Amino acid sequence: MIKKISHIAIVVPDLEEAMNFWVEALGLPLNHVEHVSDQGVDVAFLPSGESEIELLEPCDQESGVARFMAKRGPGMHHICFEVGDIELVLGRLRLAGVPLINEEPTIGTGGKKIAFIHPKGTGGVLVELYELTAEESVRRLERLNDMRRRISQGSRVYAAGFLALVSGLRNTATNGNGDGSEPVKRKTEHGD
Ligand code: CO
Repeated sequence: MIKKISHIAIVVPDLEEAMNFWVEALGLPLNHVEHVSDQGVDVAFLPSGESEIELLEPCDQESGVARFMAKRGPGMHHICFEVGDIELVLGRLRLAGVPLINEEPTIGTGGKKIAFIHPKGTGGVLVELYELTAEESVRRLERLNDMRRRISQGSRVYAAGFLALVSGLRNTATNGNGDGSEPVKRKTEHGD
């Protein structure tokens, strides 16, 4: 039922500074960065094999991730498992009496299904469940190809352009396209 760890999300006060460890020292590739306006975060995606490290920098102090960091400091925010059938897993958890944040999966972009398990039922860790959709797997392949292209140019090159990328994303998000349209291509759900 559980396929793999999809991602581990980590809250950091400053994405660019976090690159010193995760990219420069540890050597993970930086796949891409997104401003996710409805979650009030900038997210950096760092693939590690079949899984990803997602670094979350809160940029809206009212966001759930900002409140998390204020309360608990930087560090692990949640762990996400990819599952084959999310309803099946939720049913099993319900039977076991595990408290759920989402009794039913929420439907994200591309029809992907997401649900969070309450930390009080997991020993203190926020756990996300994620069911991949067909559209998502196409997108993932595109991202992988894109990443391979950029890795061949050297990860230092795009680590150097990182700050410009983030500030560009923020400007697009705040100054807008004039019509309030969403500049973010892929949404992620990060509950608190
Ligand atoms: Co997540």
